[in-house]
Amino acid sequence: MKSLQPPALATLLALPSLAAAFYLPGVAPTDYNEGDRVSLNVNRLTPAVVSSTQQIESLISYDYYHEYFHFCKPPGGPQKISESLGSILFGDRILTSPFELKMAKNETCKLLCQEKHDQRSAKFTNTRITQGYNLNWLIDGLPAATLTSQVGDDTLFYSQGFALGGIAGAVGTKDARPFLNNHYDIIVDYHRIPGRTDKPFRVVGVVVQPSSKMQKVSGGTPKTADCGNDTPLYLSENSETEFAYTYSVIWIESPTAWATRWDKYLHVFDPRIHWFSLVNSAIIVIFLTGMVSMVLLKTLRKDIARYNQLDLNEDVQEDSGWKLVHGDVFRPPKNPMLLSIFLGSGAQIFFMTGITILFALLGFLSPSGRGSLATAMIIFYTLLGFVGGYASARVYKSFGGESWKKNILFTPIFIPGVVFGTFFVLNFFLIWKGSSGAVPLWTMVALISIWFVISLPLSFAGSWFGFRAAAIEAPVRTNQIPRQIPEQAMYLKPIPSMLLVGILPFGAIFVELYFIMSSIWFHRVYYMFGFLFVCYGIMIITCSTVTILMIYFLLCSENYHWHWRAFFISGASAFYVLLNAFIYWLSKLSLGGLASNVLYLGYSVLIAFLFFILTGTIGFFSSWFFVKKIYASIKID
Ligand SMILES: *[C@@H]1O[C@H](CO)[C@@H](O)[C@H](O)[C@H]1NC(C)=O
Repeated sequence: MKSLQPPALATLLALPSLAAAFYLPGVAPTDYNEGDRVSLNVNRLTPAVVSSTQQIESLISYDYYHEYFHFCKPPGGPQKISESLGSILFGDRILTSPFELKMAKNETCKLLCQEKHDQRSAKFTNTRITQGYNLNWLIDGLPAATLTSQVGDDTLFYSQGFALGGIAGAVGTKDARPFLNNHYDIIVDYHRIPGRTDKPFRVVGVVVQPSSKMQKVSGGTPKTADCGNDTPLYLSENSETEFAYTYSVIWIESPTAWATRWDKYLHVFDPRIHWFSLVNSAIIVIFLTGMVSMVLLKTLRKDIARYNQLDLNEDVQEDSGWKLVHGDVFRPPKNPMLLSIFLGSGAQIFFMTGITILFALLGFLSPSGRGSLATAMIIFYTLLGFVGGYASARVYKSFGGESWKKNILFTPIFIPGVVFGTFFVLNFFLIWKGSSGAVPLWTMVALISIWFVISLPLSFAGSWFGFRAAAIEAPVRTNQIPRQIPEQAMYLKPIPSMLLVGILPFGAIFVELYFIMSSIWFHRVYYMFGFLFVCYGIMIITCSTVTILMIYFLLCSENYHWHWRAFFISGASAFYVLLNAFIYWLSKLSLGGLASNVLYLGYSVLIAFLFFILTGTIGFFSSWFFVKKIYASIKID
């Protein structure tokens, strides 16, 4: 399978080890002497794929120290570990734990604490076990993993997290009973730096194999446990269950260097799919660009030559073609305010996405910096407020808009307001379910202040420059009286043209979209930024070429309402993104409960909306450029 990748391209596009080769602040290696304590911190519990159905059954994550789980707490209570904004927004809640790991010191069956489950908490925990919840630990910043292999492939790779419990007996029958994993075999790979005597050790891999055991605990001081009994631990929902948590630590020396310790997590699920999709989209693009350049070079040149010649021969009046609408094509669209606000925000999203992917591609946002991707997106979006303000103001001025105060004010408020409002409402569902994913109040406050203090002034400044700059002039004069628009062909009507055009940009990205969705909902590390970067480029080219082509046909049939049309036909790919999310919902997820479903659909609609703004903007600006160019090249008396 790997031999399928041309090596040079593969390194350019996949780049996993380069991503880990940078030492960024906060992710520098920690060196240890033998016997030094290695931190083990705990993160939230996340739902994982249920093995019997291969589906996800919930989207709600829970705090590790949720009262119903009864995990052992460190003496003095758990402490918060500071995290980046992006990490918090994406649901990480990292706290300290009572585990004591000593570098290169094997331990067997250490007693952690004794706990008791009452009926209510047993019921709650059993439900989470049935839904396939995972524990997420961080050992020296590295997520504790389960060793997994893929169907039809023997290579082992790490998948993040390990099971809270399991099911004994055949699933779906009366014998099926959830058991709780209360013993952990923690297998840590460590690397010895050759030739170093002071602090030569580094942690390079962590696998946890959990198991369920009814231990006997001795009464002496300190108490000790006996991990010999392999009877699973069932939590009774009718009475209290007393039990103990135990763990063993096995240190294994490994040749893996620290810089490549993330590689095992970055498993490519079938790289052939990526290559196939890339080739597929490349063909679409070549085909499209070919078609558009044919139209541009042949038809247009002919049109222009004929139009210009006709002018010389005066009396013959042309009775069809795009030249006829020259007096209307630059008439400002309806609702110029909304369109320019959309275009401003679209430009902001466009550059944010591009820059973020580029940074990720260059390895600045490696997975070891938790949440760095989300943090980078927030920072870039905030800083690009200037671009948003500028684009919106300049477009609005060119449309001859006069309510410039409104434009300045609404550009930075409208789209962020929609996003934040949705986020706020969805957050209520998380709070209602007692989920750890609910964004804490102070983070909300921090977000709003970042937006007020940085983004808003930057956007205002951008608007100021935008209004000061010259309006983009139309190459031909607009007539007083609008022309009659003749009956349009079926495929040029709004809905059919949207459906036709929208599917192509979607076709360019949908495989990558699938992987992004798995990484969001299945908590997998996404790192194929090389592919994503190329896909983003292909999507931009597809959006612009196909929109230009449709706008050309539209103008040829003497319909000059192209402004909103260009925005909508290109933005229609968001409809397919939404449709795709629905299909995913039906096939990959079987979410129990209202909250999970509302969350999934809410976020899908929000993402589709932002995608609509992004692709619409690309379609509009390329059409504008095209329309200006063709009308500038004909002579009009
Ligand atoms: C810990 O135990 C494992 C297996 O029992 C062994 O391979 C390894 O060398 C031991 N590690 C140390 C540091 O003693």
